[in-house]
Amino acid sequence: MTHTAEPPILLRDVIEDPAEVVALLERNAPYAPLGGWYRPGVDEGLAASAMWFQKDWVHADLAVEGSDLFQRNERYHEAARRFCNAQWILPHSLYVNLMVGIDRCGPAHTDNPKFRGRERKNTPMWLLRAMLWSELFTRWEIIQATAIWWLNDVEEGGLLYWADGPNEPPRRYVGAMANTALLGDNHHMFHQVERVGPFDQGTRRVTQRAQLAPAVDGGGAWAVIDRGVEVFRAPLERYRVSVLWKADVYRSEQEHRVVANDTLTLEDVARVFDRDLKARGEKLHFDLERLGDPAFQRALQAVYPEAIPVGAGRSMYDAA
Ligand SMILES: [Fe+2]
Repeated sequence: MTHTAEPPILLRDVIEDPAEVVALLERNAPYAPLGGWYRPGVDEGLAASAMWFQKDWVHADLAVEGSDLFQRNERYHEAARRFCNAQWILPHSLYVNLMVGIDRCGPAHTDNPKFRGRERKNTPMWLLRAMLWSELFTRWEIIQATAIWWLNDVEEGGLLYWADGPNEPPRRYVGAMANTALLGDNHHMFHQVERVGPFDQGTRRVTQRAQLAPAVDGGGAWAVIDRGVEVFRAPLERYRVSVLWKADVYRSEQEHRVVANDTLTLEDVARVFDRDLKARGEKLHFDLERLGDPAFQRALQAVYPEAIPVGAGRSMYDAA
């Protein structure tokens, strides 16, 4: 099953001293609006982006000072071992989201998958997703655990998550979220960030050039500066701050070594899809020359559609 997972594990009092995370936030300011694959080609000068800011703290070529607070967090490692029934936990990513003044949900989604030999750097995202939903590449999928941690309690800012699969109503986590985390499988379990206050002006919009940082005149406030103008200011407590941790998971170090060379080339991907398309009696042929062709993308997605979770909240990317 590619679209269900065990319910996530709730962890409380995750960080001994949350002030250390505030220091991390301050050291790594400013934060820029989320770009991302949901909104390709957005006009940089248009005030079209919600106040949803993001930054990587750890990825393949980066690890900011102090990130071990999460990367080496024994609570996470223990919970990941338990959740995945596995011993070899390799944290690889850490990033932070800061959200405020958004009166619609984020999109309901599963996180982008990766496979041995095929990931974002060498394979189009839509193809990785089609590979996941086809269930043809399970053998090569890199299992990942995700933990979402929250700094504080804000006006709403809950999380919907489809722990019972996309065809059952979501569960909701909201209220008393400060210094708690949910650790689970966000690559197979749909989830959706709910709206975040204040709501008095609907969704406030900024350009892609906006930046969020501690206000220069101090006082503990954080401010959004957009093209030289301060457009929003509030204490950090009003922002929904979540830190996302991701780790690759293997049953053992030995298993990691054994499977390391079992990788997929694009030609393998084409061959596996073609075999299945033929077995299904589809006319579609998997043509590596057409990876950039939207019509080909749509045709493949029609054969291997993503689930649409029931009971999702209205998303900021839905038509008005
Ligand atoms: Fe996600």
